[in-house]
Amino acid sequence: MTITLDTPLAKPLLDWYDRHHRDLPWRVSPGMTASGVKTDPYRVWLSEVMLQQTTVQAVKPYFEKFLQRWPEVTDLAAAENDEVMAAWAGLGYYARARNLKKCAEAVAREYGGIFPDTEEGLKSLPGIGDYTAAAVAAIAFNRQAAVMDGNVERVISRLYAIDTPLPAAKPAMKEKVARLTPATRPGDFAQAMMDLGATICTPKRPACSLCPFRGGCEALKLSDPELFPVKAAKKEKPVRHGAAFIAVTGDGEILLRRRAESGLLGGMTEVPTTAWTARLDGETSVSAAPFEAAWQFSGTVIHVFTHFELRLSIWRAAIAGQVARDDGPNDGWWEPVTNLEAQALPTIMKKAIAAAIPLAFKTSKG
Ligand code: ADE
Repeated sequence: MTITLDTPLAKPLLDWYDRHHRDLPWRVSPGMTASGVKTDPYRVWLSEVMLQQTTVQAVKPYFEKFLQRWPEVTDLAAAENDEVMAAWAGLGYYARARNLKKCAEAVAREYGGIFPDTEEGLKSLPGIGDYTAAAVAAIAFNRQAAVMDGNVERVISRLYAIDTPLPAAKPAMKEKVARLTPATRPGDFAQAMMDLGATICTPKRPACSLCPFRGGCEALKLSDPELFPVKAAKKEKPVRHGAAFIAVTGDGEILLRRRAESGLLGGMTEVPTTAWTARLDGETSVSAAPFEAAWQFSGTVIHVFTHFELRLSIWRAAIAGQVARDDGPNDGWWEPVTNLEAQALPTIMKKAIAAAIPLAFKTSKG
């Protein structure tokens, strides 16, 4: 195979990647895409959407589970919404799961189950933004797209000692990535940059002596690479308060309900809670319980969302089953505690339930 590289820096990086790449379930071996081996765009797209949520390690079991249940994009398109949400639960940011489903439906309906193979075509699909379009175009279709995630930002900021703070520096960084990305093996190049950021050019104590860019790294020449990327000072997140109510019958059933379709955690399952407000008053305490019962305080759980921190006080009551069934609120349902794993419960709700029923979930993973 003859390789013509457009950029002198791509070669040492790709050589490094050939030797040190991470074996990940959604990858084909380095160089294979360029030599004609097909990478499945469904696997690439699914992994990239999941990887925007959390780490490679945390994504692996979710990725395997999704592929086992829905081996093709058309299977995911035909799945029940609730099942997809339940399988996603724990990855967080549920709007992504809703968009994942919508995107699969659009690929099945509008493209006959075949993903479009350009950045523009991909970007026209629900939930696919600049990052995902570039990543899928490069990795699955060998397009010369500039792919930039947090790891790549760190590598680039050090390579060029970019001292403009993030996020203002992003357009300049993207420009640098575009200039570096070779026409040959752009997908491997993108993943090599990610792997370099994850394993060598780490936030703390980078292993510069092992880095294929060590000869050309401006940050290393100047001073301490750890000083890059420069970040704008963080704002404190506002705190909101609320109460959650864990009602359990003698038969071991718990009262659940469904959140409104729109808004935060839309369409997910929850235990009854008050509104989540900035105030710490009666509206967010036990006086706002969904019905009268001997509510007992079971602690406070804290969960950090993108835009605020939530402090939820947890109240638990043992309910005489028959009474609750007749008199309880009618916007929910009673679910056996043994069946909670199958529900589309977001992490905050799992934490709330676990505070009142410690053995409700066998694993601590969300
Ligand atoms: N993070 C996001 N996408 C990735 C990929 N394809 N390989 C490794 N890390 C990633």
